[in-house]
Amino acid sequence: MNFSRGIPLALAAVFAAGTLMVAAPAAAGDTEHKAPHGHAHDPTDIWAIARGGQIYDNWMAVLEADGPKTTHPAYTAAGKKKGAGTWRCKECHGWDYMGKDGAYAKGSHFSGIKGVRGVAGMDPEKIHKIIMNKTHAYTEAMIPHSAMEKVALFLSKGQIDLDRYIDRKSKVARGNPRRGAAMYQTICAVCHGFDGTEINFKEEPKVEYVGTVCA
Ligand code: HEC
Ligand code: HEC
Repeated sequence: MNFSRGIPLALAAVFAAGTLMVAAPAAAGDTEHKAPHGHAHDPTDIWAIARGGQIYDNWMAVLEADGPKTTHPAYTAAGKKKGAGTWRCKECHGWDYMGKDGAYAKGSHFSGIKGVRGVAGMDPEKIHKIIMNKTHAYTEAMIPHSAMEKVALFLSKGQIDLDRYIDRKSKVARGNPRRGAAMYQTICAVCHGFDGTEINFKEEPKVEYVGTVCA
């Protein structure tokens, strides 16, 4: 499975958060206006953290926003990427939150920038200030305040040690397939089908299904 995608990461965060007994402060009333399907009037912390994780992965997709066309000013000369994609948190800090010390230590995503593991547990307001500093160059027109608050909450309370869930060498998810199958059959199959080929994620004629992303 491609773990750079929003939903699997967010699911991982939700499952991890569920086992961690998260003691997050009550999320403020949500004013995020661009959220698809409206917004939660009484948002739970777990939802805010999971959504923060999705925004960390790809805020342009999650907020349905066009990103800047220019390459991010803090993106390093060592990096090979250009344009809007360089504004994704994960492009600089990694999908494993480990930056140059993780999956992006080499290869086409290398940028040499450090990870964000060090801010886990830090006061979300302090993290929010770091993300809104000059280096980051984000504006509220790009990522509204209430959305960035969730990213800060995610980095403080929602980061997980991805080595527990993904084997770095093979890139295969760890875990117990029989236990996963029980969850899949009871929760997911109703929409995705027992063989995972009911919902196509791509635009026709391209196809990709939950049952084929690992294939
Ligand atoms: C173009 C690259 C780039 C992007 C995109 C980017 N950052 Fe950063 N970020 C940096 C750099 C550079 C630093 C400073 C690293 C250092 O001190 O060595 C930094 C530092 C941080 C830190 C502090 C880490 C620490 O341990 O001190 C946090 C937290 C952070 N970024 C969060 C984010 C979030 C959240 C996003 C997305 C909304 C984001 N960053 C997007 C380049 C980027
Ligand atoms: C009520 C229906 C429903 C249920 C239940 C459901 N899904 Fe989905 N799922 C969807 C829809 C709709 C999409 C979006 C398809 C698209 O992007 O066009 C989706 C997308 C996804 C994606 C792709 C995300 C991406 O960004 O590419 C994954 C992975 C996924 N679901 C996994 C699961 C898993 C695992 C479960 C069970 C824990 C589950 N789904 C339960 C309806 C459902």
